[in-house]
Amino acid sequence: MNFIRFSDLCSRGKVAGQRVFIRADLNVPQDTSGNITEDTRIRASIPCLQMALDAGAAVMVTSHLGRPVEGEFKPADSLAPVAKRLGELMKREIPLVSNWVDGVDIKPGQLLLLENCRLNKGEKKNSEALARKLAALCDIFVHDAFGTAHRAEASTYGIAQYAPIACAGPLLAAEMDAITAALSNPRRPLVAIVAGSKVSTKLTILKSLAANVDQLIVGGGIANTFMLAAGLKIGKSLVEADLVPEAKVVMEAMKARGAEVPIPTDVVCAKTFAPDAPATVKASTEVADDDLILDIGPDTTAKLAAQLKAAGTIVWNGPVGVFEFDAFSKGTEGIARAIAESSAFSIAGGGDTLAAIAKYGIEKQVDYISTGGGAFLEILEGKTLPAFEILERRAGG
Ligand code: 3PG
Repeated sequence: MNFIRFSDLCSRGKVAGQRVFIRADLNVPQDTSGNITEDTRIRASIPCLQMALDAGAAVMVTSHLGRPVEGEFKPADSLAPVAKRLGELMKREIPLVSNWVDGVDIKPGQLLLLENCRLNKGEKKNSEALARKLAALCDIFVHDAFGTAHRAEASTYGIAQYAPIACAGPLLAAEMDAITAALSNPRRPLVAIVAGSKVSTKLTILKSLAANVDQLIVGGGIANTFMLAAGLKIGKSLVEADLVPEAKVVMEAMKARGAEVPIPTDVVCAKTFAPDAPATVKASTEVADDDLILDIGPDTTAKLAAQLKAAGTIVWNGPVGVFEFDAFSKGTEGIARAIAESSAFSIAGGGDTLAAIAKYGIEKQVDYISTGGGAFLEILEGKTLPAFEILERRAGG
C-alpha cells in the first residue's frame, strides 16, 4: 500500500519548525470515577508524538473519547485524564486546550493535547467546513489512530483531504504492515480463530477468511451455529439457527479448497449461565436438550493447540469460551498458551481477545497486538479502510 510515512518525512528533515497535527486514538476505558483502567492506546501513541518532537515540530495531538454529543461539553467527555496519564508516561507537562478549532497558539518544541475532537460540531458527519478549519491548523497531518481508521470523520478523513501534507504515523503504518504480512503473503498454514457470541456480527469476516485461510477455528456462540450446521445437537446453547445455511456455505467453501472448519469433538456444558454452575465435559454428540455449551472440551483444545503449534501464521479474534468464568476458561487458556508457544507469526485484535491475552500474560509471545477493535475486524473483512484510502490518494497512489 502506497502512503507517505511520517517517519520518512522526519528522516528527510521535512518536519523541523512545522505545525504537525496528529490524530491519535486515545479512546481508553475508564471506570465510573473517570480513572483510566487500561492505557495501551496511550502508550502506543507516544512513539509518534516523540518522533514529531525529536524532529523539531510544533505538535498538536487530538483524539475522540467515547461518543459525546457534539457541541455539548460534559466533564466526563474530557481528555483531562488522558493528558495526565500521557504527561506521566512522557515525563512532561501536557497542556489540554479547549475550543481549539479556530486557531492554536503553538511553537516548535511544544506538545499540546486538543480536547475531545468529537465535541466539535460536524466531526461525525465529516463536515467540509470543519475539516478545512482543522487542516488550516497544520502544515502536516499525521493519521496515527488505527483504532479509528474505519471511520470517515472530520479529524480522520476530511482533514487528510485538505491538509498540505497527509501521512501515516508509525502506529497506523505498523498496524497496516502487520496485518498485510499476516493476510497477503502469509507463512502457511494460515490459521484464523474467529470466535464470539454471534455469527451475524462476523459473517462477512468468516466468508472473507474462508477464501484464504487453511483452518478457520470458530468458537463461542459462533461454534454452536457451526455445530448445528454439522448435524450436532447443541441443547439450549446460544445459537443463530437461521444462519445455519450461511455456516454451511462457509464450511463448503473451505472444504472445496482442501481447508477446514474444525468442529469441536467435545465441549464443556452447564445447566445455567453462572460462574459457579457445575461444569461437565461431554462428547459433542452427547449434548442434552437442557445443556448450555460454554467452552470447548480438553480433546478439542488439544487438537486445536497442535494445529496452532504447527501453523505458519495465526490471526486471533475472540475467546472460544466464557473465559471470564474459571470453569469455562480452559479452552481459551489452551488456545492462548498454544499461540504463545507456536513459532507462527501471530496477530491478535479485539477487546475480548486483548482481555484474554492479558489474563494469561502472553503479551510478549504474541507477535502483534492490534490497538483496533472495529478497525481490526473491518480489515479482516477485506475492506479498505477510509484512512488508508485517503492517505493513498494523498500520496498520489
Ligand atoms: C474503538 O474504541 O474501537 C475506537 O476508538 C473507535 O471508537 P468508535 O467505535 O466510537 O468510533
